[in-house]
Amino acid sequence: MNFLDSEKMAGILESRGFLMSKDEKKCDIFIFNTCSVREKAEEKLFSYLGRLKKRKRDRNLLIGVCGCVAQVEGNRILKRAPYVDFILGTRSFHKIGDVVEYLIENYGEKIIDIEMDSSPYPPEVKEIKRNELFREYVLIMEGCNNFCSYCIVPYTRGRERSRRLINIVDEVKRYVNVGAIEINLLGQNVNSYRDPEGYDFPDLLSEVSKIEGLKRIRFTTSHPKDFNEKLLSVILSRKNICKHIHLPPQSGSNRVLKLMNRKYTREEYLEKINMIKKSGIEFGISGDFIVGFPTEREDDFNETMSLLDKVKYSSIFSFKYSPRKGTYAEKNFKDMDEDIKLKRLMTLQNFQKEIQLKLNREKVGKIYEVLVESISKKGETLMGRTEQNYIVNFKGDESLIGKIVSVKITDYSAQTLKGKIIY
Ligand code: 5AD
Ligand code: SF4
Repeated sequence: MNFLDSEKMAGILESRGFLMSKDEKKCDIFIFNTCSVREKAEEKLFSYLGRLKKRKRDRNLLIGVCGCVAQVEGNRILKRAPYVDFILGTRSFHKIGDVVEYLIENYGEKIIDIEMDSSPYPPEVKEIKRNELFREYVLIMEGCNNFCSYCIVPYTRGRERSRRLINIVDEVKRYVNVGAIEINLLGQNVNSYRDPEGYDFPDLLSEVSKIEGLKRIRFTTSHPKDFNEKLLSVILSRKNICKHIHLPPQSGSNRVLKLMNRKYTREEYLEKINMIKKSGIEFGISGDFIVGFPTEREDDFNETMSLLDKVKYSSIFSFKYSPRKGTYAEKNFKDMDEDIKLKRLMTLQNFQKEIQLKLNREKVGKIYEVLVESISKKGETLMGRTEQNYIVNFKGDESLIGKIVSVKITDYSAQTLKGKIIY
């Protein structure tokens, strides 16, 4: 979502004649689009800003902070970094063109706009800087009403609001008309998608999948409490909806899930996983995990380990709990020892590595359709993904980027598969 917001800001500025530079030293305007989901991301911002401070003494620069950190920190950013010129929150970044032009004319003034715009629809931004022609990201809804106790997103992104189905379908059609074959539908919580006419997410997915020429549809993120049979049956009924589901459990312990306010139990989660597995179709299943949530005991952590063992995720993202200011968990629970969190994270990741090695070993000899995404820096191998979101490396020509090819798996590691094009 943050990448997409950055592409929108870049698109708006380019449409007004500004140019993006790869060389930092040549830039007159610096815009930081920020994430605050964990502490590390936030700290990075201030270390970058510190580097610009000196440079701004020698030369007029415009420096802006946008996105989630801007939204929740607002004025406090100016206290820590008074040389910042503008701050735009998650619901005002689309004003970037006017803001930058105004500040060029009125250098020295400051603009802070972190208004939580409450209009019912997200802004329709058409100027998106497109880096690839074959793959596009499309916002369908934004915000979150779930308030998981550890999570800052409901505060940074505000309440849920959805785009109209017709606008989404139009946007996807425009991309497909100019050659896109993969579309990623994005929302903090795609299952909460609602069009005012009453269409829900499975309806939207079904409409998008009818677009001629569209080969692959992906979506993130689906909240386990809302994942249901209707959605699964749409996914199964359409060839162009990728058989990959990102279903973040966060923890395998009912006690911790309750404290996290996740609104499902381990058993309910596993039921949904079984529903997917029972389809008999090969799905890639991925998930997010938080270890070291306050009060997490060894037996809670073991429940998470046993969930990994039961589900057999094709990949996971795992994080140490990071207290986020203003969240329920930060206000009510004590953070635990960093060493325990780190130890659990390592244990979890090592176990998952073993699982992935086993899963990947079983794929040798199979043939997958792979969408080629990029070429390695050394120019030797291509990288692509199967519809299950497995990463595959293989030899081939750069001209295949953006095309779908058949690849036979010949080798593997924990993270990737290796293969040979068979056309
Ligand atoms: N600490 C650690 N991880 C977090 N996530 C969200 N909030 C926190 C936090 N406070 C993780 C969750 C979520 C992913 C995007 O980031 O696993 O699914
Ligand atoms: Fe955060 Fe929970 Fe909303 Fe996901 S569902 S964005 S983890 S509050």
